[in-house]
Amino acid sequence: MKENITNIPRHVAVIMDGNGRWAKKRLMPRTFGHGAGMNAMIAMARKAKAMGIRYLTVYALSTENLARPKEELEGLYTLIRKYFTKNVKELYAEGAAVRVIGDITALPAGVQQLIREGVENSPDDAQFFVILALNYGARAEIVRAVNAAISRGERVTESELGKLLDTADMPDPDLIIRTGGEIRLSNFLLWQAAYAEMYFTDVLFPDFDEKEFEKAIADYSRRNRRFGNV
Ligand code: IPE
Ligand code: IPE
Ligand code: MG
Repeated sequence: MKENITNIPRHVAVIMDGNGRWAKKRLMPRTFGHGAGMNAMIAMARKAKAMGIRYLTVYALSTENLARPKEELEGLYTLIRKYFTKNVKELYAEGAAVRVIGDITALPAGVQQLIREGVENSPDDAQFFVILALNYGARAEIVRAVNAAISRGERVTESELGKLLDTADMPDPDLIIRTGGEIRLSNFLLWQAAYAEMYFTDVLFPDFDEKEFEKAIADYSRRNRRFGNV
């Protein structure tokens, strides 16, 4: 029987891991896995929006991933270019906006330009946000925020520091999903994850379809979040 999910998270963040292993199983290059992962990500965003989730953050490229071989990075940049030229238009048409967290200044100039345009051209009245984490690392993000606070010469509260992070205008994630079998955060949203629920699955990201996403949300909706209270 289909479960009735009553408690929908406002913000879901996903560590999309396992593309390389998915490709390897098929004797294909890792980039092929990233292409399949991007299709899964687009389908997931559509599903998230349909379920009434407001914010979907996807870990697409970590600061550490920039050390990967040049061919793989080129493949990823090609996918990012495609996303910000073609796929974002479908997103806009559905009334959704795209945002980015991470330091994109380390990416090729052409890619940076497309990302900036993609964010700027997003509808102003969006009710659903896809937030791409690109060259994102939580430690780097926190250091940027701390340095911004220092340059103002003022001590900060938790809420003020939160406003200096890349995620300033978003709520903290309610649920963090990691596919691909590893049980770790890999430098993702360390500050924002303070009270997030965690969901780990062995499913490799290209196989993480709408049914799997719904399963994760159903699992979340059964949890009891106490936030330290009784
Ligand atoms: C995650 O998949 C996507 C990115 C890091 C860009 P991986 O590329 O890490 O895939 P595995 O973990 O090697 O299978
Ligand atoms: C985390 O996956 C980064 C992304 C999904 C973009 P990795 O594959 O890079 O993480 P580790 O190396 O297994 O921790
Ligand atoms: Mg991986």
